This record gives sequence, C-alpha cells and structure tokens, in this order.
Amino acid sequence: MSFFRNAVWFMKGLKEYTKGGYASASKDFKASDLDVDVSGRSYMITGANSGIGKCAAVAIAKKGGTVHMVCRDPKRGEEARQAVKEESQNQDVQLHILDMSKPRDVARFAQNFISSGKPLNVLINNAGCMVNTRTVNSEDGLERNFSTNTLGVHMLTTALIPLLSKQEKSRVVTVTSGGMLVQKLNGSDLQFEKMNPFDGTMAYAQNKRQQVVMTEQYAKKYPDIHFSCMHPGWADTPAVQNSMPDFYEKMKTRLRTPEEGADTVVWLAVSDSVPSLDSGLFYQDRQSVSKHLPLAWTKSTADEETTFMQKLDNIAQQFLVESPDS
Ligand SMILES: NC(=O)c1ccc[n+]([C@@H]2O[C@H](COP(=O)([O-])OP(=O)(O)OC[C@H]3O[C@@H](n4cnc5c(N)ncnc54)[C@H](OP(=O)(O)O)[C@@H]3O)[C@@H](O)[C@H]2O)c1
Repeated sequence: MSFFRNAVWFMKGLKEYTKGGYASASKDFKASDLDVDVSGRSYMITGANSGIGKCAAVAIAKKGGTVHMVCRDPKRGEEARQAVKEESQNQDVQLHILDMSKPRDVARFAQNFISSGKPLNVLINNAGCMVNTRTVNSEDGLERNFSTNTLGVHMLTTALIPLLSKQEKSRVVTVTSGGMLVQKLNGSDLQFEKMNPFDGTMAYAQNKRQQVVMTEQYAKKYPDIHFSCMHPGWADTPAVQNSMPDFYEKMKTRLRTPEEGADTVVWLAVSDSVPSLDSGLFYQDRQSVSKHLPLAWTKSTADEETTFMQKLDNIAQQFLVESPDS
C-alpha cells in the first residue's frame, strides 16, 4: 500500500507541485484577491528569515501590515528583518527570537507577547524542519521533528488563541506539506521511538499530517477564528536543498520559486474572501483540496483524533511556564 500511495503521490506532485503546476493553477487566480491594504493589522510569521516565510513577510509588509518575524537565529533573523523592511518600505517589522523546538521557550514567548499588549490578527505557522537522524533535545527529551513541527505549533497556537480571539476575523494559517498525503495519523508513536529504521522524510510527513488534523480540530474548538493549512508546492528553499539533497538534485529545474510557494500563505492571510470560507480546510494554489489521496486508507477516526489532541495537550502541559501575574 505505501509503495502505491507514494507512487500516486509523486505523479500528482510532478503535475501539480512543480512550477508548471503553479503556472497552470495561477491562471485561475483573481488578481484582485491580493489587492488589499492590511494597514493596522498584525501578522506573526514563524521561520520568517528564509524561504516561504520570508517571502510571506515581504508580501504582507508591502500591503501595510505589522509583521512579527519569529526566528531562531538572531543574526539571520536581523539580516532578514532589514531585508524585509528594505524590500517592503515598511518600517513596522519586528523580530522575535524563538526556537520552536523548545516547548518551555514557546510557552514563555507566547506569554511575553501577550503581556506586551500587542494585538495579533493572524498567526502563520511556517517554521518547519526535516531532521533526518533521530535527534532528541537534551533539555526536554523530545524528538526534534515532533517538538518543532507538531508540539511547537500546538503550543504557540493554543497559547495565542485568547489574543487572536480579541480581534474580529482573526486567522491561523499553517504551512503543512502535500507529503502528509502518504501518511495516516499515528498518535501512538509521537516521538518515532518505534520507527525502525528512523526515516526523517516519513517522520516529517507524519508531523505534517498531524498539522492537518490539528487544523481541523482547532476549527471545531474555536469557531471565532478562521483556521486553514496549506501545501506550498515544491519550492526551491534551503529546507529542500539541505534536507532532501537527492530530491533537490533531480527536481531543481522544476521547483517553484519561494514567492510562488508563499502565494497561498499570503492569500489565506490577507484576502477578504477567506473568512467566508469554511474553517479547517487544506489548500493548494488558493483552492481547498482533499486531505486524502483516493484509496490511500489515510483517514483517521474521530476517536483517534481526539486521543491525539489529548496527548498533545498532556505533553504541552508539562512545559507550561508560570505566568508572571500568578
Ligand atoms: N519548500 C518546499 O517545497 C516545501 C514543501 C512543503 C512544505 N514546506 C514547508 O514550508 C515551510 C517553510 O519552509 P521553506 O521551504 O521555506 O524552508 P526554509 O527556507 O528552510 O525555511 C524554514 C524556516 O523554518 C525555520 N525553522 C526551522 N526550525 C526552526 C526552529 N526550531 N525554530 C524556529 N524556526 C525554525 C528556519 O530557520 P533557520 O533559517 O534558522 O533554519 C527557516 O526560517 C516549512 O514548514 C516546510 O515544511 C516547504
């Protein structure tokens, strides 16, 4: 089954996820959808120093939004902030340093951001990694793909819900991956202890499936906020170059630009047409698309999804920090 699933997925990718796929899909885009002024609105983008996140930061800053770039490396972050300010001619671009793989830091960051009194209209969960050797963080014992792609996203999103809820029509956009189509939710091995041999590509795809399930569950739990997740296609970014060198070598002439990869992120974050669309969907090239390949047996039950979310909450609970007011 997994060979069939992977082969079907790769054929689909060649047609839809490449720059040719973007050229074809973008013929149906409405240019006016992005013709918006978002002055006065505030956008937080994780992993904003590079690739898709940086392109989204530039695009949103050009439309007048306040941009909070959340990056793990102070030097790369500051260089990117200067570049975003220069390219957009928007000075309201702020840098926050956070390693998304460290749950205590994620909790502390969210708390400090809320305490600062800054508003937030849109959270873009973009930071992501594919770590190909099973790596466990020494300070908390968490596997790195899981702590960055799943737990970090869950902790940041849920911690910021009260702040997002203060704004009308607030949104959360999560950059997942079409790679998740080859995985069924597996809530019983969140840290890949039983994955033998460890396979970073499949661990990443599992995390990306988890993000899709999380998006659906958040949409049900928090109806006042609009949640979406999206696949950027195959875009030429450092993540692809460094984590998937063989794929990159074969595909480099057919990859999308990072700007093309960021298009649907920006559309979901700023377009006026988005709030009227159902919450909790999965998007590709400004269209909601199926979360499952035909005959792929990747659908999970409501019980499996509830249990997964409870496990995430239980793990997150261990890392919550005391509020400065308590
Ligand atoms: N490019 C594609 O074809 C493709 C396809 C499907 C999905 N995606 C998704 O798109 C998103 C953006 O990736 P990209 O392709 O634009 O690659 P990228 O340019 O390498 O960007 C990834 C960003 O995530 C940041 N990041 C990684 N681990 C982090 C951590 N622990 N804490 C904070 N930030 C962290 C990176 O920071 P550093 O610069 O410090 O490493 C970088 O800013 C990811 O979620 C990825 O899974 C990309």
